Amino acid sequence: MSTNDNGETKITRERLVELLNEDLAGEYQAIIAYVVYSQVLKGAPYMGIAKELEVHAAEELSHAIKIAKQIDYLGGMPAVTPKPVKTSKEATEMLRADLQNERETVGRYRERIRQAEALGEFALSEVLRGIIAQEQEHEIDLSTALNIEVPPPIEPKKEPRGEKPAAARR
Ligand SMILES: [Fe+2]
Ligand SMILES: [Fe+2]
Repeated sequence: MSTNDNGETKITRERLVELLNEDLAGEYQAIIAYVVYSQVLKGAPYMGIAKELEVHAAEELSHAIKIAKQIDYLGGMPAVTPKPVKTSKEATEMLRADLQNERETVGRYRERIRQAEALGEFALSEVLRGIIAQEQEHEIDLSTALNIEVPPPIEPKKEPRGEKPAAARR
């Protein structure tokens, strides 16, 4: 981690790869959640959204492939472990869990796009912009099914700021 003239943390390629691997673990989680929830959601009011969740599952798989491709391009090794998936028998609880994850995902990708651009990785930024547009669609679908307004994205925890690079500390 290095700092710019304002003493703010500047992203490195290595850190970007680490963060993209966390994003990839989130995409795996989303695939699993949508595969399972689309099949176990029961009840007439949820038949429409259950079908929609099958579509989400396929879109999350395409996100995972795109992120893995970018990690490989940046010289990293794509992660193989999903973030934990919440299980429930309650339809609204499943939809809320999905929505919570989507909000975190949108927050993470907003940050990732800024970081990609800071490093001049414009193709990565382009790929992430395509993905974030679909994640926002997912938020709308889930919020509609829950009969609520789309809540704001959840901001990721801030990177430590003002930390001096190791070489400059001595
Ligand atoms: Fe996704
Ligand atoms: Fe999504």
